[in-house]
Amino acid sequence: MTTYVPGLEGIPATRSSVSFIDGEKGVLAYRGYPIAVLAENSSFEETAWLLLEGRLPVKQELTEFSDHLREHRHLEPPILKMIDSLPRAGHPMKMLQTAVAGLGMFYDEHGAPKSVVGSNGGESLKILACMPTMVAAWESIRNGRKFIAPHAKFSFAENFLYMFTGHEPDPALAKIFDTCLILHAEHTINASTFAALVTGSTLASSDSVISAAIGTLSGPLHGGANQNVLEMLNEIGSPEKVKPWLDNKLANKEIIWGFGHREYNVKDPRATILQGLVEKLTKSKGGEISPLFETAMALEIAVEERLAEKGVYANVDFYSGILYAEMGFPVDQFTSIFAVSRTVGWLAHWAEQCANNRIFRPTQLYVGEVDCQYVPLEKRK
Ligand code: COA
Repeated sequence: MTTYVPGLEGIPATRSSVSFIDGEKGVLAYRGYPIAVLAENSSFEETAWLLLEGRLPVKQELTEFSDHLREHRHLEPPILKMIDSLPRAGHPMKMLQTAVAGLGMFYDEHGAPKSVVGSNGGESLKILACMPTMVAAWESIRNGRKFIAPHAKFSFAENFLYMFTGHEPDPALAKIFDTCLILHAEHTINASTFAALVTGSTLASSDSVISAAIGTLSGPLHGGANQNVLEMLNEIGSPEKVKPWLDNKLANKEIIWGFGHREYNVKDPRATILQGLVEKLTKSKGGEISPLFETAMALEIAVEERLAEKGVYANVDFYSGILYAEMGFPVDQFTSIFAVSRTVGWLAHWAEQCANNRIFRPTQLYVGEVDCQYVPLEKRK
């Protein structure tokens, strides 16, 4: 094969049964279950099991899996100390990538595909269990507050809110957050999952697989877009400024954050569900639509008017950014919250690949010089 396809668009890099997208119909399904059904009925723990194991758990399996995650939430003192040593102004995604890679110094599991999944899942599940603790610990540490240790009485979502805020989580808010985690858990072979698979294909350890994926997710063309969405909406300021702002950006061929997707030519189904969650949250706060949400809705309409012909619609990061802002999370933590949940998808794909692993080693089309004459340094001009 000698055709170079930039961005590998349309090139299958794996066979997978983890999730499915129909980008024309706006369909996303995890293991055959439509995302809207899981968002409505499942929990993050149950969805994680489904993605990792390939089927819904029975009650005892779910209890054991949830208990396993609860037991492994704590951060050992040396890891906490390592996080504490980082510069306070550093980005949370860099902290997370460092902390996950650092975790590998305390676990010796090189090339351990057998332990990716299941309730006895070694380093992989330790990473999944304690990533929320790392993110929340960083929030406390960088703000000079006391670290709030995880509490075993809470679910995955509740515990994150508890550690992050220091308060008992409001059940309605915890349910919304749990749904966010479900929506972000998996999305076929996107850039970060591909990075995880490339790293995993060398039989590298879980911490290498996940930290490579975290670094890849951080970019603004991928998961980092949710932070940019908020910064963009703040720059626009109000609904009436949307159209002139947008026309100016498009005239300068600039990217509108939170819009467009390689796989979807219609609105991302997760964006639709997240928009509904913002509406739900708004109602629970008394029903007054915030200027931020109003500006976002005006922007979505204006973008559709101008870019629908190119198949560019709102993606997951557009409404997740808005929802996280409405929930009170700091803007630079949005992508790390995304990473916490997407770890499940990375692990599910890696586990699938381990069953039939072959190292990724693509080829290239060489376009450089040939047969160059070496000129000694002193004779070069
Ligand atoms: N803003 C403005 N124009 C956009 C756009 C956006 N967010 N997304 C796509 N387009 C335009 C492109 O300029 C291109 O126009 P052209 O054909 O006139 O050159 C066309 O739509 C196709 O886009 P392309 O860049 O080929 O899509 P891609 O599949 O390579 O990239 C993304 C997909 C996600 C990287 C791209 O849509 C993007 O940068 N989006 C913003 C970042 C973002 O929200 N990322 C999170 C994704 S979940």
